[in-house]
Amino acid sequence: MPDEAPVPPGIDASTPNAARMYNYYLGGKDNFAVDRAAAEQVLKVAPEARELARQNRAFMRRAIQHVMAETGIRQFIDIGTGLPTEGNVHEIVHARDPDAAIVYVDNDPVVLAHARAILSRTPRTTTIRGDLRRPIDILNNPELRDLIDFSQPVAILLVAVLHFLTDDDKPGEVIARLRDSLAPGSHLILSHVTADERAYAAQQGAAVYRKASASITLRHRQQIMELFDGFELIPPGLVKLHDWRPDEDSAFATYRGRELPTWFYCGVGRIRD
Ligand SMILES: C[S@@+](CC[C@H](N)C(=O)[O-])C[C@H]1O[C@@H](n2cnc3c(N)ncnc32)[C@H](O)[C@@H]1O
Repeated sequence: MPDEAPVPPGIDASTPNAARMYNYYLGGKDNFAVDRAAAEQVLKVAPEARELARQNRAFMRRAIQHVMAETGIRQFIDIGTGLPTEGNVHEIVHARDPDAAIVYVDNDPVVLAHARAILSRTPRTTTIRGDLRRPIDILNNPELRDLIDFSQPVAILLVAVLHFLTDDDKPGEVIARLRDSLAPGSHLILSHVTADERAYAAQQGAAVYRKASASITLRHRQQIMELFDGFELIPPGLVKLHDWRPDEDSAFATYRGRELPTWFYCGVGRIRD
């Protein structure tokens, strides 16, 4: 997305955008100068943000692979998709089963445009516009219902998105609405930013996001734990990103030779029978 190129209609290139900032941390090219400037401000207070973004993606990959291997789930709804990057959900899922269904959901027009361009010829995959704050609208979307069979278990991904919901958005109720529509055996894959360990830096980083497209609500471990109400957390429970069933990627969860601090909690829950 070179800055000299015309900005597509409906795209705001003058306000830092959360999805494009995340794309910048991950080394992507789909961002504008305003996104890079804001992301650099975050990197000043949290220089490990790039590694955290990579660890967040690695957690998501391990969680999907685990759910597919251990539960047989073949339907995924990824809410808060983000800009396409290496190791997208459909690539992870289809590597194991090309017949599995994936629905991408985001409320950002930039994300939707990119995802649709990439996915236009990918079978069993669709992208819809939806806002996590209106979960019933997402579940009732006809394109989603064409792909997802709600009589069978589904995995819902809420990876690095719930911190964009304020307490007034009632994230617990949002998850309850989703949960109540799912068949037994369905799973929730979740990660969420916290200020538990790096409180000052987290507040500074969150201040940058207050001037961006979506502000961040930092939550403590117990508050994130409560988001799993009605789900049984599978081992190892709610942990930092690189502690969730680590593999070779987790060995690189360091910044300047030290273990990454706790910036995120993550976990996978199974709906209680
Ligand atoms: C940090 S990115 C995470 C991308 C991906 N899930 C990951 O973890 O790699 C957050 C994404 O959530 C989206 N988002 C933020 N608030 C949302 C909402 N209320 N409804 C749907 N998507 C939202 C943003 O547009 C962005 O694409």
